[in-house]
Amino acid sequence: MAHWYAACRGSDLRAGRPHAFTLLGRPLVAFRGADGQPAVLEDRCAHRHAPLSSGRVCAGELQCPYHGWRYGTHGQVTHVPALGAAPPGVAGVTALQVCEQDGLVWCWPGADAPIGTPRRIATHDQPGFTRFIMKTRFRGSVEACLENFLDCPHATFVHKGWFRSPTAQPVRAVVTTLADGAVAEYFDEPRKRSVIWALFAPRGGAMRHTDRFIAPHTSCVDYEFPSGLAYNITSTCSPVEGDAVEVFTVMSFKFGWLGPLVRLAFEPLSRWIIWQDVGMLDRVAANRARHAALGALPRVQSTAADLLGPHIAAWRAALTRGDAPPAAGQITEATLTL
Ligand code: FES
Ligand SMILES: [Fe+2]
Repeated sequence: MAHWYAACRGSDLRAGRPHAFTLLGRPLVAFRGADGQPAVLEDRCAHRHAPLSSGRVCAGELQCPYHGWRYGTHGQVTHVPALGAAPPGVAGVTALQVCEQDGLVWCWPGADAPIGTPRRIATHDQPGFTRFIMKTRFRGSVEACLENFLDCPHATFVHKGWFRSPTAQPVRAVVTTLADGAVAEYFDEPRKRSVIWALFAPRGGAMRHTDRFIAPHTSCVDYEFPSGLAYNITSTCSPVEGDAVEVFTVMSFKFGWLGPLVRLAFEPLSRWIIWQDVGMLDRVAANRARHAALGALPRVQSTAADLLGPHIAAWRAALTRGDAPPAAGQITEATLTL
């Protein structure tokens, strides 16, 4: 079953420039038509298979760099320069269904008609939020990426001092399975001695923190503070090919009129933290490959502290097999030492 996947950021489609990307092993190209709407075509000229992404966009049409054939947003050939026209009966290239929403261009890679529209980013229309979108290439499975984004225990090691420092305090966590995934809510969470907490919660106080997996390939981390400050990190994964995953992370934070100023510090800090995760997952993937070369890898071992990883794996395995997804309404509790 196909799904909507993020292809690129809307800002990646600059005037006159096609944008090459790969999704699920398919080389694709995105560009904006004359009406400003995005289009996604397979990245292969129908004439001699030159990559259309190395051409240019002329008046909303994509022009091949080899003999200048032009394509419209539906993949149809609109002009063959050597003939001065478009000959009838020449097949064009496949165009994918596209939707631009919440700063991202989404595409539907299936041959069937799309189901619904891409899921909205929760904070996108709320007032007072400042947003930016990061695009990051990870090495690993979609499951490994999503688990990493929703996993608290790694933060005291990988992001020690930047996002979370160990306090050895118990934190109660409640995991609830939902109709579209699963959510973990944390209670009495310590948050001391880190750069992020100094920025967002300098005076402490109770906060609300949830980590949510939204099937099939999105994670959503939400923090709300008593001061009214909040931040939301929504990440959506687009499999590229092999073990590469393109992750689009929409960072939204509520800091009122100070938001654009806070962004100056928050954006480089967010990039630094995400690169710490890229580095860790890269080492995991490389190590798995080395050991897999010696024979079958043993199954990974999970404990009660791995709150959402098993739910992510179960959901995605069910979707792959075409089985019914895990039941909603199951509640489990765990106490983590963070
Ligand atoms: S290969 Fe594209 S126009 Fe010839
Ligand atoms: Fe992380």
